[in-house]
Amino acid sequence: MKIKGIILAGGTGSRMVPLTKVTNKHLLPVYDEPMIYKVIKTLTSSGINDITIVLGGESVGDFIRLLGDGSEFNANFNYVYQQKAGGIAEALYLTKKIVEGHKLAVILGDNIFEKSFKNEVTQFENDEKYDCYLFLKQVEDPQRFGVAQLNEDESIKSIEEKPQNPKSNYAVTGLYFYNEKIFEVIERVIKEIGYSDRGELEITDVNNYYINLGKIKAIKVPGFWSDAGKFETLLKSSNFIRSQNNKKE
Ligand code: DAU
Repeated sequence: MKIKGIILAGGTGSRMVPLTKVTNKHLLPVYDEPMIYKVIKTLTSSGINDITIVLGGESVGDFIRLLGDGSEFNANFNYVYQQKAGGIAEALYLTKKIVEGHKLAVILGDNIFEKSFKNEVTQFENDEKYDCYLFLKQVEDPQRFGVAQLNEDESIKSIEEKPQNPKSNYAVTGLYFYNEKIFEVIERVIKEIGYSDRGELEITDVNNYYINLGKIKAIKVPGFWSDAGKFETLLKSSNFIRSQNNKKE
């Protein structure tokens, strides 16, 4: 079954004021392109061309003027609007009407990856054993992320969101592959767990639910990965792209 792409670019970008006072975080430059271009290209270079983008905030017109129907990227774009930053899992749930019944590759709009995921996409499209692939990266500051605790066979035991005392240094990156059960799983999380103390429907709760069903595969991300959602990591991501571009010249 051909996988469909989801880009989650809602949220307020509050960590980046005043850069985000009159525009949206995902429109800020990562060296030579708006942040969202890099995220779109991670999907299209992995062979995913049918993409639904969740937007939020006050710059929706700017996104649509910039991205249009997707033909510039050899892709087809649909748009959905998230009224309030109610969490990553909530943003994903808003796409249900458009993509229900398909396998999904979900990517956070501020996650910058060096490599594409063509092989993993093909593998997941044909995978009948695993319901979900999660992509891990070793980091120096795991407290900032969802952190995976691994079993001896390197499968994921559980995930903690922004733990004070992380059980490993494996961050769960913002790329998630889900099978068609995803919306049912989110509905169960809404019913059984609900919104977190920070007022968000947590993607980590959704992923832990999948783990309890025992069908998650962990993949280590090769090459560079960063979120670009803080001043420091935006600069780091820009510097990385700059160094890549210099190598090509
Ligand atoms: O970058 C990876 C990390 O992303 C994971 O390790 C964490 O488990 C996951 O919770 C997330 O953590 P952050 O705190 O960095 O997420 P943030 O609130 O910055 O949101 C990341 C993107 O998700 C953002 O660029 C847009 C999208 N988003 C977020 C929220 C809260 C939405 O589309 N809607 C939302 O309501």
